[in-house]
Amino acid sequence: MLVYVWFSQVEGSLRLQWSAFFKKGNGLVMCAGFALSFLGRRATIAPMNIAIITGASSGLGREYARAADESGRYDELWVIARRAERLEELANACATPVRAISLDLAQANAIEELSALLQREKPTVGLLVNAAGFGKFGTYADLTAAEVSSMITVNCNALVCLTQAVLPFMTRGSRILQIASSAAFQPLPGLDVYAATKAFVLSYTRALRFELRGRGIYVTAVCPIWVRTEFIDVARQTANGTTVKNPAPSISPERVVRWSLFVNRVNYPVATCCVSGVIMRIAGKILPAPLEMWAWEGLRRL
Ligand SMILES: NC(=O)c1ccc[n+]([C@@H]2O[C@H](COP(=O)([O-])OP(=O)(O)OC[C@H]3O[C@@H](n4cnc5c(N)ncnc54)[C@H](OP(=O)(O)O)[C@@H]3O)[C@@H](O)[C@H]2O)c1
Repeated sequence: MLVYVWFSQVEGSLRLQWSAFFKKGNGLVMCAGFALSFLGRRATIAPMNIAIITGASSGLGREYARAADESGRYDELWVIARRAERLEELANACATPVRAISLDLAQANAIEELSALLQREKPTVGLLVNAAGFGKFGTYADLTAAEVSSMITVNCNALVCLTQAVLPFMTRGSRILQIASSAAFQPLPGLDVYAATKAFVLSYTRALRFELRGRGIYVTAVCPIWVRTEFIDVARQTANGTTVKNPAPSISPERVVRWSLFVNRVNYPVATCCVSGVIMRIAGKILPAPLEMWAWEGLRRL
């Protein structure tokens, strides 16, 4: 009885207070306040988790984007390349929302544009794959200054600057895959600049991984051998595209992507992706460079 009296009084006074609030319109204001503070708290607690993938208009990059989409881990995929229509096609095929960012990474302002976007959106970058890159067949005498310079800019400069721009947005458990190549394991005449750019990527990635060891960010250099992508068609478009006569693509991009994501997941520094890659890596460590270059000199003419 006493409890009933107390409850009806409390309930009555609450009802009075609520009706007073609503009469003055305060109730509406309060509800809006609650909703805003809830949304605000959500925004600070959980920034958007995204994957950034360069070179996503074809080959390995596109396959990494598909894998990121299938994983269902990301709120958005930011895909980067020059061919906007290819990126749109990819976006239409993905279940995850895709931001198609058409950028020429050989241009100086490309990274600034991406940095500005990151500053505006303030996402968490859960995955960065730097797959944009290309090679050109030919010796020093065959390649133009423009070809050589843009190869270095895209393969090295853009990869490093983009990584630098993204790192502040990474957190424990974020993942970085830098696409190098088995060409990184030794100097390759006839592919001299390309092999050197990939040796740079491998060395940079290993050192970066060491620097990041305390932050719980997984870093892997991916070093595949010939993969069935548009790479060889692009590489042949030079004054002497048959410098490397018959590159025989042996592995599929799907295989490289599946294996390298696994290698990165177990936090291993280098993913070689097939037996020939492993052999090249071991040979690069134990054989003298001149011996390797003479062996390659024969192989590239077959
Ligand atoms: N395929 C192989 O045998 C092989 C072996 C070892 C390592 N790799 C490495 O794997 C990576 C991916 O190559 P892939 O085999 O997938 O070749 P791919 O099919 O030719 O793809 C190259 C990607 O890089 C992008 N790209 C090139 N120049 C760019 C620029 N200036 N700005 C922005 N994006 C640019 C291309 O997009 P847009 O043309 O639309 O800009 C394309 O999406 C490269 O770093 C390559 O060196 C390839």
